[in-house]
Amino acid sequence: MTLLIVGATGLLGTELLRQTTAPDSPHTQGQPVAATFHTRPPTNTPDVHWTPLDLRSRDQIHHLITTLRPHTVINAAYRQHDWPTTAQGPTHLAPPTWPHPPGPTHLALATTRTRTRLIHVSSDAVFSGHAPTYDETAHPDPTTPYGAAKAAAETTIAALDPTAVIARTSLIIGNGHSTHEQRVRALATGATTGALSTDDIRCPVHVQDLAAALLELTDPTYTGIHHLVGSDALSRHTLGTLIARQQGLDPNTLARARRAEVGPPSPLELRLDAHRTQQRLTTRLRGAHEFLS
Ligand SMILES: NC(=O)c1ccc[n+]([C@@H]2O[C@H](COP(=O)([O-])OP(=O)(O)OC[C@H]3O[C@@H](n4cnc5c(N)ncnc54)[C@H](OP(=O)(O)O)[C@@H]3O)[C@@H](O)[C@H]2O)c1
Repeated sequence: MTLLIVGATGLLGTELLRQTTAPDSPHTQGQPVAATFHTRPPTNTPDVHWTPLDLRSRDQIHHLITTLRPHTVINAAYRQHDWPTTAQGPTHLAPPTWPHPPGPTHLALATTRTRTRLIHVSSDAVFSGHAPTYDETAHPDPTTPYGAAKAAAETTIAALDPTAVIARTSLIIGNGHSTHEQRVRALATGATTGALSTDDIRCPVHVQDLAAALLELTDPTYTGIHHLVGSDALSRHTLGTLIARQQGLDPNTLARARRAEVGPPSPLELRLDAHRTQQRLTTRLRGAHEFLS
């Protein structure tokens, strides 16, 4: 009855591991926990069975799932600019059996074969931002390669396993460790230059809330798409201001800009509506004003 966390060296994976291995964890009730890493060495976590895994390798995925036989897999792995990792699976690392099945992720193929429950973490980037809000019934309309990769993964997983959970989230904030907090710190201390956009709206979530909610979603009564985002929609600049204040830095040092001036094109306003998911969850998905106060 093993729970397997894929991508357990990342921001979210580390927190999932922390919560599942805590002595008083309400989520795992003493069940074995296994975890995968790719490039970063695993943390020293007694009682966790670590395995290297490259999600671009179909063989590695199938070997791991068929030998470990976990009852549940939470997939928190991704690489922003890497389609094979984020959407599908094998490319150059696969055996020469092209053409591959179109679209499906090989993790979902493996878990479907072994009747393993799959919880897949997705993103608000599957949406364009053209609609005022998006609830769990909205169809993806991605406008970036990352969003397209996430939408492709969602589509194949849902087709292969209707009982799988697809959990869409937004900017993940985590006790100073997230890239968003690190960037604010670098900007506010002058370690880097740049600005934060005032027209780029997201619903940031705290990594502890996100991990706890994902662990709740391992319950087999949950299936399909769920939105796990914080209850506040705010710009990256406002988020930066809250982060700076929380870290004792001067928010006035954070320059403002319009999105077009600070980076590659991306959706502007991604307001995910999580009410439907939140109604069923015990975990409360706090807004950034609360968790950064
Ligand atoms: N961070 C955000 O603000 C944000 C926003 C929306 C959605 N999300 C979604 O949330 C999830 C977790 O994000 P995160 O911020 O925790 O990510 P992260 O910190 O960047 O961690 C990514 C994880 O994926 C693993 N990984 C990367 N390439 C891999 C490969 N080819 N094979 C196997 N594992 C691989 C990494 O392993 P190594 O470190 O060992 O290489 C790491 O454990 C992702 O699905 C992401 O799309 C994140």
